[in-house]
Amino acid sequence: MASLPAPPLGSSSSPFASPLTAVLCIFLSLLLLLPRPVLSQCKNVPVIFNFGDSNSDTGGLVAGLGFPVNPPNGRSFFGSSTGRLSDGRLVIDFLCQSVNASFLSPYMESLGSTFRNGANFAVVGSSTLPKFKPFALNVQVMQFLRFKARSLQLAAAGFGNMISDEEFRNALYMIDIGQNDLADSFSKNLSYVQVIKRIPSVTMEIKNAVKAMYDQGGRKFWVHNTGPLGCLPQKLSIVRRSPNDLDPVGCLSSYNAAARVFNEALRRLCVEMSSEMKDATIVHVDIYSIKYDLIANSTKYGFSSPLMACCGYGGPPYNYNIKVPCGQTGSQACIKGSEFVSWDGIHYTEAANTIIASKIRSMAYSTPHTPFDFFCRG
Ligand SMILES: *[C@@H]1O[C@H](CO)[C@@H](O)[C@H](O)[C@H]1NC(C)=O
Ligand SMILES: *[C@@H]1O[C@H](CO)[C@@H](O)[C@H](O)[C@H]1NC(C)=O
Ligand SMILES: *[C@@H]1O[C@H](CO)[C@@H](O)[C@H](O)[C@H]1NC(C)=O
Repeated sequence: MASLPAPPLGSSSSPFASPLTAVLCIFLSLLLLLPRPVLSQCKNVPVIFNFGDSNSDTGGLVAGLGFPVNPPNGRSFFGSSTGRLSDGRLVIDFLCQSVNASFLSPYMESLGSTFRNGANFAVVGSSTLPKFKPFALNVQVMQFLRFKARSLQLAAAGFGNMISDEEFRNALYMIDIGQNDLADSFSKNLSYVQVIKRIPSVTMEIKNAVKAMYDQGGRKFWVHNTGPLGCLPQKLSIVRRSPNDLDPVGCLSSYNAAARVFNEALRRLCVEMSSEMKDATIVHVDIYSIKYDLIANSTKYGFSSPLMACCGYGGPPYNYNIKVPCGQTGSQACIKGSEFVSWDGIHYTEAANTIIASKIRSMAYSTPHTPFDFFCRG
């Protein structure tokens, strides 16, 4: 399942079913204000290594811990659960499709995996701290080191189809982590000030991860910042708060403020690393702005109730109950996930991920402005 071939995006030549459909599609794209897709210009086989949490876990939790992810996860695209926390594809899946790479197999998935286009080390719930706990960022990096050593060893022993040393050097190294570090701090009842105090240790771990891959020869990095934590229906429903902690959109101001402080630290870190590792390209992508715009301007993008989960329990305003999460007996899913931003109160729907990925590819949110396929252009 995790190794389904991914059809290319944007390069499809399939004709529209009818002129009416064509007009409708054009109208809808205008309506959605989607940036025009940039056609992939890959010359080399695209190789991607991803590190992170549930935002980019393509089945790592299920593979690594045997922890089930139940339907209706997967219902909109895969038709069954793949271990992704969404009704369909994640942002990383769309990015892989945009360069005609297969969906990334989780590193720990022993059956049916294909690693020709790289591997995914991201696992649901991961954070940077504490270290050495499954599957903290430093553990994911250690897994990568093992993956690389083993690939080269097997290639030397005559196994075909392994990722070569040159391909490891030209690969894209993606990181999307930090959300759980912030969320864990808040859930431990730390004060806002205490949460902020932990941020430098978190960004230090991200730096260590990038440095480890750089020392291995990696030169192309793609770093996502963290989304507006305080807009997640889960946080809105479980956090005890005073009404004046809500911003005009209805999100938790303190949580979002902490996310922005983290993001500013991460942005500075990327600038700093770019000057320290002069021959590396480190692209920083402002996921926060993309997601916050999607929520604040949800009607413009065709969504209603951006702060309510499609799949959950309890109904409006958030449809989230920590005792009856999506997929558990008693939870219910909306009819049309395409009208919701939030899938399960924490993760985004395939419809939202489609827009997020296309905004990422537009380069408008990237520093430096870099097309996603820069690493495989050759
Ligand atoms: C995508 O990849 C497949 C197999 O890896 C290949 O057959 C196909 O030609 C590729 N398409 C594009 C547009 O690069
Ligand atoms: C956090 O504080 C609340 C109320 O002050 C308390 O009910 C809860 O048990 C605390 N949680 C933890 C993890 O200490
Ligand atoms: C909402 O859309 C308007 C118009 O495009 C834009 O100016 C504004 O920045 C958006 N809001 C957010 C929070 O991004």
